[in-house]
Amino acid sequence: MAALALVDVVKTYGAHPVIHGVNLTVGDGKFVVFVGPSGCGKSTLLRMIAGLEEISAGQVLIGGRVANNLSPKERNIAMVFQSYALYPQMTVAENMGFSLTLEKRPKSEVSAKVNEAAATLKLTELLDRRPSQLSGGQRQRVAIGRAIVRNPQVFLLDEPLSNLDAALRSETRVELSELHHRLGTTMIYVTHDQVEAMTMADKIVVLNKGRIEQVGSPMDLYNRPTNTFVATFIGSPKMNLVDGPWAQRFGSQTIGIRPEHIMVSNNEPTWKGTVSVIERLGSNTIMHVRVPGIGSLVANLDGQRDYVVGEDIGLKPDEQHLHFFDVSGRRMEAR
Ligand SMILES: Nc1ncnc2c1ncn2[C@@H]1O[C@H](COP(=O)(O)OP(=O)(O)OP(=O)(O)O)[C@@H](O)[C@H]1O
Ligand SMILES: [Mg+2]
Repeated sequence: MAALALVDVVKTYGAHPVIHGVNLTVGDGKFVVFVGPSGCGKSTLLRMIAGLEEISAGQVLIGGRVANNLSPKERNIAMVFQSYALYPQMTVAENMGFSLTLEKRPKSEVSAKVNEAAATLKLTELLDRRPSQLSGGQRQRVAIGRAIVRNPQVFLLDEPLSNLDAALRSETRVELSELHHRLGTTMIYVTHDQVEAMTMADKIVVLNKGRIEQVGSPMDLYNRPTNTFVATFIGSPKMNLVDGPWAQRFGSQTIGIRPEHIMVSNNEPTWKGTVSVIERLGSNTIMHVRVPGIGSLVANLDGQRDYVVGEDIGLKPDEQHLHFFDVSGRRMEAR
C-alpha cells in the first residue's frame, strides 16, 4: 500500500493559487525528495501533508485513509523543520522525550524510547547536555531524535540541513540516508539543493510554481529530463542549452549538453571561443568558454588542466549524449 497519496491537491491563499492540483504517490518506506526553487510550494505541500495547513481542494491519503480532516496528531506523522527550536533549559534527553512526556506516558517508557533513539543517532553520550553545549550538527540530530521517539508512520523534513556548514551538511546527509535504511520509515524531504536530492532520494519530485514538472529516480531525471526546466535544475554545473542554427540542424529548437559531455577539440571544433573563467577543483576542472553567437558554454573536464583565462579554445560535444527539446522546451525523443 502507498504510505501516502496526493490526489488533485490544490492550495489557494485568498484568491492566489500556490499549488495547482498535485498528484503523487509515495511508496511505503521510500525516501522521496521535493526539490524546486524558492517559493515553488515545497513547504506548503509538506505542511498540508502534516495537517498544519488546510487543503483547499483534493485529497491527502495516509496509509490508504483520507486524512484531510485529521489533526496533525491523528496523522501519525513527525515533522522536522529548518529552524528546529530546542528548549534551551532542557537536556537533550528531556528535549527528545518531550512529546511523550506531554502525553503523560510512563517515565520508564519515555526513557527507553529516548535511549533507543539516542543510540541510533549517536547521541547517547550527550543526553545530559543542554542545547547550548552542542554543535549545530548535534542539535540537528536531537531535533530528528525528537521526531523518531514518536515512531511515526511518515517523517517529513523541511530543509533540515540548511543551517549547517558545507562539511557538516554532507556528513549529516550520509547519516540521514543510513538512518532511513535502518528505520525503514517513509521519509519526505524538502530541499532546494539538488545535490541533496540526487544523493538521498529513491524518488525526486521536481516542483516549479506549484506544479510537478517531473517525478523519477535521480538517474531518470539526470539522463532523461522531461523539459528544459528539469534539465537545467538537476545537475551541477548545469546543462548547457544551445539553440539557433546548430540545434536546428538536428531538427530541434534547443539542444542540451551536460558539461561533462563537452570536450576540448582544436581539430575540427564545433565551437571556437575564449576561456573566461576556470574553476580548479582538483579532481576536475570547470571551464567557462565564451563563444560568439552562442553565449557561454561550460565544460567539466576530468582532472587538472593547464588552460588559462583568455586562451582561445575549440570545443566539441559528445553527440551520443545530446538532449533535444522542442519550441516549448519539452523533451523530443526522435530527431
Ligand atoms: N500564509 C501565506 N499567505 C499567502 N501566501 C503564502 C503563504 N504561505 C506561503 N505563501 C506563498 O506560497 C508560495 C509557496 O510558498 P512555500 O513556502 O511553499 O515555498 P517553498 O517552495 O517552501 O520555498 P522556500 O524554498 O523559499 O522555502 C510562495 O509564493 C509564498 O509566497
Ligand atoms: Mg520552504
